[in-house]
Amino acid sequence: MATALSQTQATDHRLGFQSLDEEVAVDRLPVSGELPPWLTGALVRVTPALFEIGDRRVSHWFDGLAMLNRFGFSDGTVSYKSRFLDSRSYRDAREGQIRHGGFATDPCRSLFKRVQAIFSPGFTDNPNVNLARVGERYIAMTETPLPVEFDPETLDTVGHFEFADSVRSHVTTAHPHHDRERDELVNYVAHFSRTSEYVLYGLPAGSSTRRVIARMPVREPAYMHAFGMSGRHLILAEYPLRVNPLKLAFSGKAFIENYVWRPELGTKLQVFDRETGAHRGTYETDAFFCFHHVNAFERESGELVIDLVAYDDPSVIDALYLDEHGPRGPLGRTELRRYSIDLDAGSVSWEALTGGHDVELPRIDYGRRNTCDYEFAYFAGWGGGRWIDRLVKLNVRDGARSEWSAPDCYPGEPIFVREPGKDSEDGGVILSVVLDAAARRSFLLVLDAGSFEELARAEAPHHIPFGFHGDYMRS
Ligand SMILES: [Fe+2]
Repeated sequence: MATALSQTQATDHRLGFQSLDEEVAVDRLPVSGELPPWLTGALVRVTPALFEIGDRRVSHWFDGLAMLNRFGFSDGTVSYKSRFLDSRSYRDAREGQIRHGGFATDPCRSLFKRVQAIFSPGFTDNPNVNLARVGERYIAMTETPLPVEFDPETLDTVGHFEFADSVRSHVTTAHPHHDRERDELVNYVAHFSRTSEYVLYGLPAGSSTRRVIARMPVREPAYMHAFGMSGRHLILAEYPLRVNPLKLAFSGKAFIENYVWRPELGTKLQVFDRETGAHRGTYETDAFFCFHHVNAFERESGELVIDLVAYDDPSVIDALYLDEHGPRGPLGRTELRRYSIDLDAGSVSWEALTGGHDVELPRIDYGRRNTCDYEFAYFAGWGGGRWIDRLVKLNVRDGARSEWSAPDCYPGEPIFVREPGKDSEDGGVILSVVLDAAARRSFLLVLDAGSFEELARAEAPHHIPFGFHGDYMRS
């Protein structure tokens, strides 16, 4: 259990790593400011919320048990609801057990069981990373291919989203893309064996059968948290954080600890044709690490542009291990980088677009600007402190930036919501769940995306642990 000491001392960002062990429903939160009348949907987010299992604390932020948080908007009022996702991992945790290995938390069991877990579907199904819509169904996801379906109104868990195909997989991303023309969810999986492979696929709306777009054999798969999609291409950025699948099976280490940083390999940008699935080429550049792609598009010249949030190395993974009070930290340095590939000549160049400012959790006007040249990206950022303490709007064309911050406040991912009928790329609002550590509670912040000025905030009844991703669901 979290100690009494940590419960009383955390009046800074570390409060965001304390468990929230209650599910609540509030019809009307206190609101200050004025909400736009057109905002009538709901912000639904998933967050690791329970960090103690039995007498253990999970080892890493990425291993907290998943909770859904829903802020519903109606007639200028905001409702709030929270529910744990009723996954197999969650039920085990309620019995005080960690039966399935997580990202960095080992299940503590025999070698035989561990091997069985890796080469059979025994990984965690704790879907604490991201949410997506598949036709009329909503799923919560982690990096094992065991999405959990939920009801976005009641937050009830429906059950595992079962695929009706024979695509074999061990890991995937919780950052699928949406193919607007086909109305497909696009994602990749990696299958570990003596001849491992990446498989890129499309999942049509209303279907549970994946359409394989491309396969690529790989000897030592890279850890990839997301991937890129332009108008014509899919991009797997293979950072040199690599795993030997057979060592993974027998090492006895937690999942991510089997991956080895080998900067001498550089980063390989694997580019596939979205239409034919053909492997367009392998484009090599210097070693870097990344969780999140931001956008990708082709220029008229045919040049492929890939924007992503880059780290020099994967030490951020170590920084996010949890001790009794919070993450080890510090977060380190990041930058928004633009990689440009001449697909025919094979050359890769890059430039930094954020000018030395640290940013993460990027969002854009995905519905209209993904796969297109674009102007605005939104981030959570930090500036030398130990945790995210600001929201950042960046004009990626001219470098102009705006920031929102407030004393003792630690915001999460900024989600852009377009105002219906507005044409400008930043015509809408930004929604972010912010921890007010001094008040020991969180609030939903609403910013005007154009001016980046605060419009309103709605106070949650308690602190909400820091989460990763979510989405606005139109009513
Ligand atoms: Fe992510």
